Amino acid sequence: MTLKVAGRGEIPPFIVMDVMRAAAEREISGADVLHLEVGQPGTGAPSGVIETVKDAVEKHLLGYTLAFGMPELQQRISDHYRDMYNCIVPVDRIAVTTGSSGAFVLSFLAAFDPGDRVALASPGYPAYRNILTAVGVEVVDILTGPDSNFQPTPEILAAQIAASGQLDGLIIASPSNPTGTMITPVKLKALVEYCRNNNIRLVSDEIYHGITFGVQAETVANLCADAIVINSFSKYFAMTGWRVGWMIVPEDLCRAVECLAQNLFISPPALSQIAAIAAFDCFDELDANVDRYAVNRKLLLDELPKAGFDKLASADGAFYIYADVSEMTNDSTEFCRRMLAETGVAATPGTDFDPTRGHGYVRFSFAREYSMISDAAQRLKGWNK
Ligand SMILES: Cc1ncc(COP(=O)(O)O)c(C=O)c1O
Repeated sequence: MTLKVAGRGEIPPFIVMDVMRAAAEREISGADVLHLEVGQPGTGAPSGVIETVKDAVEKHLLGYTLAFGMPELQQRISDHYRDMYNCIVPVDRIAVTTGSSGAFVLSFLAAFDPGDRVALASPGYPAYRNILTAVGVEVVDILTGPDSNFQPTPEILAAQIAASGQLDGLIIASPSNPTGTMITPVKLKALVEYCRNNNIRLVSDEIYHGITFGVQAETVANLCADAIVINSFSKYFAMTGWRVGWMIVPEDLCRAVECLAQNLFISPPALSQIAAIAAFDCFDELDANVDRYAVNRKLLLDELPKAGFDKLASADGAFYIYADVSEMTNDSTEFCRRMLAETGVAATPGTDFDPTRGHGYVRFSFAREYSMISDAAQRLKGWNK
């Protein structure tokens, strides 16, 4: 019997997961691992969330909610835009989702047809590319480097369109994973303008908002009502496993996203939505996490160059430092494997984020505790690459 298997699932694995497996195997064998590969906070949900959830488990039915989520959570998210960005977002355009990952699926399905062309910065978060590919959308790589702070610009987009044809969409992330770089407000405005003038649907992944060092990120929701704005409780709110995020849906996509959400997910998880409402009362604890990341970041920015990693992206936000290691290796996967075996430091090869040039890059995460980051810096300084 030969049963059909759809080609849709033939997308690359998430390589960081392979790194995490190698690190776990090393730990099982009794050797220690310093986790600079992780893409999640080293702390769990804030204590106010935990208290609220304990109570909710006893008292709440926890049934399905509306497809766009609990009205109280939609309201808290709308209030957040008012307080944080001075931005008015109508409650009925806020869709609560199963993490930003759920929002990517909904927005890509609602906004793009198979064969459409959507651009994204390379290096970038791999799931954008892989989800788009799975739903039949053509991914157009915008190769970015230090000259544009690893971010797309109108000039780069114009050159891309001249070379390969019209684009239907653009995905941006500021701060970005893996580089941590941000788009300045002036450049963001220019990019939004360019997309508007060229009928390009902008998708702004704002998942690392709140984790910035010295500057506050601007939301695209303040600049463009036609853009899709995506965020999550996974990073600043330190709630990765709760699988809850949100998107601001443009008017013309609202009904499509609602129908897709009803059919694909019915609703986001109820308990996580109750937790998310409580998270908006926990800013003190969450800001303390960011203060800790800032100390870790400074340590790595000071120490990595002494270990030979001296070509680093600007790390304005998120909890990553993207290092150009092309003078040390042309195979970052093997480089990371050896680094783990010889020093116990786990990091992520750039190939996850940039299929073309990632073999010359490594991503270090500074989300974990200070002692771990500091030990890693010491070991890397003594490592004979
Ligand atoms: C840039 C970026 N967007 C989205 C996600 C997925 O996050 P979520 O947990 O909200 O699905 C990640 C996870 O690492 C990320 O780095």
